[in-house]
Amino acid sequence: MKDLQKGVEVLYYCPLPGQPSQGNQSPIIGAPPTAPCIASMATNTSSSPLIEFRKLDFSYGDHRVLDGVSLEIPRGKVTAIMGPMGAGKTTALRLMGGEQRAQAGEMLFDGQDVGRMDQTQLYAARRRMGMLFQFGALFADLSVFDNVAFPLREHTDLPESLIRDIVLMKLNAVGLRGARDLLPSEVSGGMARRIALARAIALDPELVMYDEPFSGLDPISLKTAARLIRQLNDSMGLTSIFVSHELKQTLDIADHVIVLSNGTVAAQGPKDVVVNSKDPMVVQYLNALPDGPVRFHLPGASVAQDFQLSEPPVAQQ
Ligand SMILES: Nc1ncnc2c1ncn2[C@@H]1O[C@H](COP(=O)(O)OP(=O)(O)OP(=O)(O)O)[C@@H](O)[C@H]1O
Ligand SMILES: [Mg+2]
Repeated sequence: MKDLQKGVEVLYYCPLPGQPSQGNQSPIIGAPPTAPCIASMATNTSSSPLIEFRKLDFSYGDHRVLDGVSLEIPRGKVTAIMGPMGAGKTTALRLMGGEQRAQAGEMLFDGQDVGRMDQTQLYAARRRMGMLFQFGALFADLSVFDNVAFPLREHTDLPESLIRDIVLMKLNAVGLRGARDLLPSEVSGGMARRIALARAIALDPELVMYDEPFSGLDPISLKTAARLIRQLNDSMGLTSIFVSHELKQTLDIADHVIVLSNGTVAAQGPKDVVVNSKDPMVVQYLNALPDGPVRFHLPGASVAQDFQLSEPPVAQQ
């Protein structure tokens, strides 16, 4: 219900027609919020986490990626998942979205174990989520407008006139209403990221997950993208989760931080608590120190083995 684009238009958020009002809100440009709209905003006040991992194990084949992980994503907040390369951050998002299933433990979304859901239940849960993938791309042959309209045409029976209004509202929310007729090849990388964001929020999700939303952006686009994540979260009453290595922007906008390392949670909690963590991995990561528990080389064969050098003699006891 806040003004999203100060000095431009006031955007109010109400449930989409035909959708349950479970915290989903769709912007109505210039229209004051109705009573049901205000009521729907008051429903999402539960203090239970929106997402919870309980002693979760996940492996790709024999490769254990998450080992007995327990974590919580609080509702209505912006949570950052951080940690070194290969720590399992993208995998954690895939588990949250039900794209992967844990081998042991639970992955609860709004209290329901996603790992036990059948296809219909999973489909219903996914409609409440929006995702921006690490290497997510727009459909190259579709205009910006049609890219954002895609999930609405796929998942709803809304008439085209309403789809048009919703698409323009979503593009307006990311500042790109004027780019509607362009093709993805005609927009910059930063713009493409924002268009993908408009598409991710097209169905008015409760939860939006972003995998490395800042990578490859110039400093201005990066800051814009970070502010947008924060603003959309607060204006639309979302829960947001993002993975990023950009320490400054991440700590600027996050309320809650989870640091993954070696298949476990090195630290989690409100930002201030995590920033002051004494865990050596967290200290190394947050201070960008080259030396510490996180090694440069991925574990593997020794240099001597790979280059067929003679191993140095083992010292006699
Ligand atoms: N589809 C897959 N099949 C097999 N192994 C995978 C697969 N995807 C990821 N892995 C492995 O799982 C581990 C965790 O990968 P993940 O992509 O979750 O890491 P990440 O924390 O997102 O890393 P980055 O910061 O580099 O994106 C890595 O060792 C990776 O090689
Ligand atoms: Mg990743």
